[in-house]
Amino acid sequence: MPSVMESSEGGDEGESLRYEDVEDDNVSPSDLSELLKEGTKESHDRAENTQFVKDFLKGRIKKELFKLATTALYFTYSALEEEMDRNKDNPVFAPLYFPLELHRKEALIKDMKYFYGEDWKEKIQCSDATQQYVDRIHHVGQHEPELLVAHAYTRYMGDLSGGQVLKKVAQRALKLPSTEEGIQFYTFENISNAQKFKQLYRARLNALDLDKNCKERIVEEANKAFRFNMEVFNELDKIGRSLVEEAQDGGVPVHDGKGDIRKCPYYADKLGNAAAGCPYHTAMALAKQPIVQMILVACVAVAAGAAAWYVM
Ligand code: HEM
Repeated sequence: MPSVMESSEGGDEGESLRYEDVEDDNVSPSDLSELLKEGTKESHDRAENTQFVKDFLKGRIKKELFKLATTALYFTYSALEEEMDRNKDNPVFAPLYFPLELHRKEALIKDMKYFYGEDWKEKIQCSDATQQYVDRIHHVGQHEPELLVAHAYTRYMGDLSGGQVLKKVAQRALKLPSTEEGIQFYTFENISNAQKFKQLYRARLNALDLDKNCKERIVEEANKAFRFNMEVFNELDKIGRSLVEEAQDGGVPVHDGKGDIRKCPYYADKLGNAAAGCPYHTAMALAKQPIVQMILVACVAVAAGAAAWYVM
C-alpha cells in the first residue's frame, strides 16, 4: 500500500508526514479541524436524520434509487475533483490535494458502468438539487478557492466515516457481489487505515495559513455543503416515494406506503408490464370502491335471507 508521501501529488513536499505516524491528540479549539467538527455537528445530526439516510441505514433502499444516488455522486465528484485539480497548486488548497487516496470520479465511473452499462452517459442526467450543488462547487473553485476545503472536508471525511457503514448496508440490501462491483465509490483502495488518514487530513487542515475570519467562512461553507447534500437526499426521498406509487394500480394506495412492496410477488411483473396486476392487491383495491362495496352488501343480504329461509 503506498504511503501518502509516495503516492499523492498533494501536500507540502518538504514535510515527511506519513499518515500511519500522525497523532491527533494535540488539537486546540481554534484549529480548523475542531472548528469544522464542532461547527457542523448540528448539520451532521440533521443529515443523518433525513428520511433518505434513515431508510438507507435500515437497508430500505431500492436498486433504482441507489443508482440515482450514485448518479448524483458522479456529478458532484466530477465537479469537486475538477475544481480540486484546478487548485492543486493554490496554497489555500494544495495541502489537501490527495488525488490517489481520495478522488472518487474513476470509482464512480466503474459503478455507473456496472449499473447502467457501457452507454451509461447517455442514460443519466443531473438532477435539480445536484445541479445546485455542482454550481456552487464550480463557483467556489473558480471565485473563492479558499472555501473549496469546506466541500472537500464535508464529502471525503464523511465518506471515510459514515460512508463505510453505508457501503456494507448497500452491499447487503441490494445483494451486490462480494467483489464490490457497484460500491467502488465507497472503497478507498489507496487508504490502508481510514482513521489514521483522517488524522493526517485534520493535521493538514490545521496547518493551512488562515485567519480567523477565513476559518469562519470555511465553517459556514461546510454547513452550506451539508445543506446541499440534504437537498439531494430529500430529492431522492421524493423520487423513492414516487417509484413506489408508480407501481400501484391506478393510484389506488394498495400498499399505503407501508410494508415492502418488493415482497409482493407481482411487483416485478407490474414494473415490467403495467397491465399485469397482483390478484390480492387488485381485489383489495376493488373492495375499496363504493359500487363494489354496495354489491358486496347486497350479496351478503341475499345470502343471509336465503340462509334464514332455509333454516325456517
Ligand atoms: C449514514 C449516516 C451517517 C453516519 C452513520 C455517519 C457517521 C459518522 C461518524 C461515526 C463519524 C465520526 C468519525 C470519526 O471521528 O472518525 C462521522 C464523521 C463525519 N461525517 Fe458522518 N455519518 C453519516 C452521514 C454523513 C453525511 C450525510 C455527511 C455529509 C454529507 C457526513 C459527513 C461527515 C463528516 C464531514 C465527518 C467528519 C467529522 C470530523 O471529524 O470532523 N456524514 N460520521
